[in-house]
Formats: sequence, C-alpha cells, structure tokens
Amino acid sequence: MDARVAVLASGTGTNLQALMDDPVVGPWVVLVLSDRAEAGALERARARGVPAVFVDPAAYPDRASFDRAVLSELRSHDVRFVAMAGFMRILGPELLRAYEGRIINLHPALLPSFPGAHGVRDALAWGVKVTGVTAHLVDEELDHGPIVAQEAVPVLPDDDWDSLAERIHEAEHRMYPKAVRALVEGRLRVEGRVVRVLEEIPGTGART
Ligand code: GAR
Repeated sequence: MDARVAVLASGTGTNLQALMDDPVVGPWVVLVLSDRAEAGALERARARGVPAVFVDPAAYPDRASFDRAVLSELRSHDVRFVAMAGFMRILGPELLRAYEGRIINLHPALLPSFPGAHGVRDALAWGVKVTGVTAHLVDEELDHGPIVAQEAVPVLPDDDWDSLAERIHEAEHRMYPKAVRALVEGRLRVEGRVVRVLEEIPGTGART
C-alpha cells in the first residue's frame, strides 16, 4: 500500500495530532504544510519528526501560483493523498486535478448546512439543535464534494462558541482518522454524490 499523506493545516493542529496518533494513518503522514508560519500544526509535525513546510501566500502574486507551490511540495514529498485539517484556503483547479478523488476535507458542521469558514458560529447563530462534523472528498466547489462520514453533535441550551467548538473537536478527533483511513486504504466507492465505505481492504481480504 502506498498511502503517503500530506496534512494541510492553518491552525492549532489538534486534528493533525489525531491523524498522526492514528495507528494506520499516522505512519503515512509524510508532510505537514501550512499557509501560516505560526500554525501550531507545524510545531506538532516537528515534534514528531515529520517534515513541516510553510508556504507563504504573500510570496505569490495570485492563487494559481500559490497553488502550484503547494503542488510542487506535495510532489517533491511523493504525496499520494491530501488530508485537509483546518486549512483555511481554497485549493485551485490544477491541484484538484492532480489529486482528483484523493483529497479529503474536514468541516465543523453537518454539510450541506453551514459551509464556509465559520461552521460553528453559523450553526449557533441559526439556532439549530443539532450540528456536527463532516468529512468529504474535495471538489471544485467550497465544502461541497461527496460526503464520506458525518457525526452529529447536539447544541445544548447554554452552549457558547467555546463549549460547542470543544464538543465539535471531540467528534472530529473520533471521526476524521477513520475517514482518512478509509481513503488511504482504498475503501471508498464513489457513485455520483454517494460514497460507500467498504469494510474490507480491497485485494487483502482484511477487515477493518
Ligand atoms: C476544525 O474544527 C476544522 O473542522 C475547521 O478548523 C478546525 C481546525 O482545528 N475547519 C474549517 O472550518 C474548514 N472550513 P484544529 O487546528 O484544532 O485541527
């Protein structure tokens, strides 16, 4: 199995940590890339001895050239799969084409509700009683590709952003490593928008 994974992250990197701690995914994480020099995710990668790369968006004149710089990092580390874990930038068409069907994203709401950069805040403001987390394959539209996994999280009467975000994170740390595992083990079957997750690793007979 060639499952070399790059994790793209802009923030503190708790989901990166969950991926690196996963017994299947962890050993395959060969690169952590961030658009923020001070991202905690880069620190976490270094602490693990995983190459940590900052690609500075300010160094590139437009999104396409930033995108090409990211793509060239992925290629130079022989990356086969990309897991976005709190990466707050939209990937461009060239990169999407190069990694079609092999990029997964994590979103802190039950898509298609509350897409965008503020999934937790928007769910609270709307007054929904249940929100959650989504792992989905990435396509050219924001927070839109076929859904791999979701977990519901209740919104409690006294929740504020911090308390809800904390439970959202707990759900993410449970759900996302399983979804990334299914991707890298070749267990996803996509028909249109619908993703079936196989329990058996193709060609091995091994059950997860
Ligand atoms: C996660 O909650 C993730 O769902 C969210 O950023 C957070 C990163 O946390 N992603 C988005 O909002 C993408 N639209 P982390 O740095 O602790 O993993």
